[in-house]
Amino acid sequence: MKIFLDTASVEDIKIANDIIPLDGVTTNPTLILKEGKDYVKTLKEITKIVNGPISAETISLDAEGMVKEGKEFAKIHKNIVIKVPMTPEGMKACRIMTKSGIRINTTLIFSANQALLAAKAGTYLASPFLGRLDDIGEKGTELIKEMRQIYDNYGFKSQILAASIRSTDHVKEVAMMGADIATMPFKVYEQLFKHKLTDEGIKQFLDDWAKLQKDLKKK
Ligand code: G3P
Repeated sequence: MKIFLDTASVEDIKIANDIIPLDGVTTNPTLILKEGKDYVKTLKEITKIVNGPISAETISLDAEGMVKEGKEFAKIHKNIVIKVPMTPEGMKACRIMTKSGIRINTTLIFSANQALLAAKAGTYLASPFLGRLDDIGEKGTELIKEMRQIYDNYGFKSQILAASIRSTDHVKEVAMMGADIATMPFKVYEQLFKHKLTDEGIKQFLDDWAKLQKDLKKK
């Protein structure tokens, strides 16, 4: 499974990418608002760090507007992927841009039927929002299972990008369910490395090493 960072923080992207090269990045208006920086400038910086798909989100509600915005974003770098919402207008924009060679990430997918339509429109990435389904009392990860089955049944090439990930459990579950990609906040990414027993194990080895040095000095 590919791992993307879901952030517009260039600093966090640099830190994560130095550990294990990231497979990609997703951004959205909320994330760029958090950083308070220029969107295009930030996207340009990200393309210099990460060698993989970098999603930039359109804000128009009509297909024409989305295509116009998408074409501008696409000029930034060949790795830019255009995010459009899962709406009829979004799917029109998806078809138009896909035809002209621009890759699309269909965002705000909350049902298997929406995922089916996005694949039929030729989306490159399909983004189900797990955490937000959990927020309303549904089981977000179930959607990944359904999408995997539907995409495999019909040989759709769209990649399942599990989004709105809130925990390390989410990451494990979507990996087991066969998501192609998980995009996650930096905080969740950092937690993936951690285990209490790893820390305890390191501490014990260091303590024992120190004891050995003391014992050897005594001899
Ligand atoms: O990738 C989508 C993500 O940014 C939304 O996450 O936590 O706002 O539902 P969240």
